[in-house]
Amino acid sequence: MTDPLARHTDYGNESLVESDVADDPIAQFAAWLEDAAARGVYEPNAMVLGTVDADGTPSSRTVLLRAVDADGFVFYTDRSSRKGRALAAHPVATLLFPWYALHRQVNVTGEVAFVDDAESDAYWASRPHGSRVAATASAQSQPIGSRGELEAWVAEVETAYPEGREVPRPSRWGGYRLRPRRIEFWQGRTSRLHDRLVFTRAADEGAWKVERLQP
Ligand SMILES: Cc1cc2nc3c(=O)[nH]c(=O)nc-3n(C[C@H](O)[C@H](O)[C@H](O)COP(=O)(O)O)c2cc1C
Repeated sequence: MTDPLARHTDYGNESLVESDVADDPIAQFAAWLEDAAARGVYEPNAMVLGTVDADGTPSSRTVLLRAVDADGFVFYTDRSSRKGRALAAHPVATLLFPWYALHRQVNVTGEVAFVDDAESDAYWASRPHGSRVAATASAQSQPIGSRGELEAWVAEVETAYPEGREVPRPSRWGGYRLRPRRIEFWQGRTSRLHDRLVFTRAADEGAWKVERLQP
């Protein structure tokens, strides 16, 4: 049997060179995201969100990217969750897109703020009824005695808001937008001579500077 800890994968022949990369890293990201979807990456919009808890402890978890444009990267969650509490204490985060099948990753860092209520409402309304019920019943990241208790709360919410009835968005549930300050594109290449291009800007509206990093 192959030992999964002893694998040495030699990454393919794709490259990321300065002459091919878009001047705007958001456009470059959008092109890679589209490529990941077209090439069959499972959940291409899944990203690992890294935050810092109030006491300085780092924590991470996967969330789904729901919008991206010049204003930043948007995801939705329960703002009373562990990540929500971390973001209240330290409104900065990293997002890691691990597109292993393509030998690519993108790493984004920046400041995080709530999206406005109208935007959260619009996204909430687009979610399936079951997801809205679940988000209403579950105070994410709080301990619970049993699965049965959770299912009982879900049943209560279902009774109050059956399919076809509008489920109001809980005030603790909503979106965050990360405004990028740093975006790194990593393309695996043979013999560990990977390509790494990093875009940085000093302020929100500043011009992007691109630099190559050693692999
Ligand atoms: C593929 C995948 C996608 C997920 N997407 C979300 C999401 O968009 N929002 C969310 O709150 N949790 C999402 N989760 C669950 C989170 O990873 C996490 O368990 C939850 O948000 C609680 O995290 P916290 O206790 O660190 O706040 C996702 C998990 C996986 C594996």
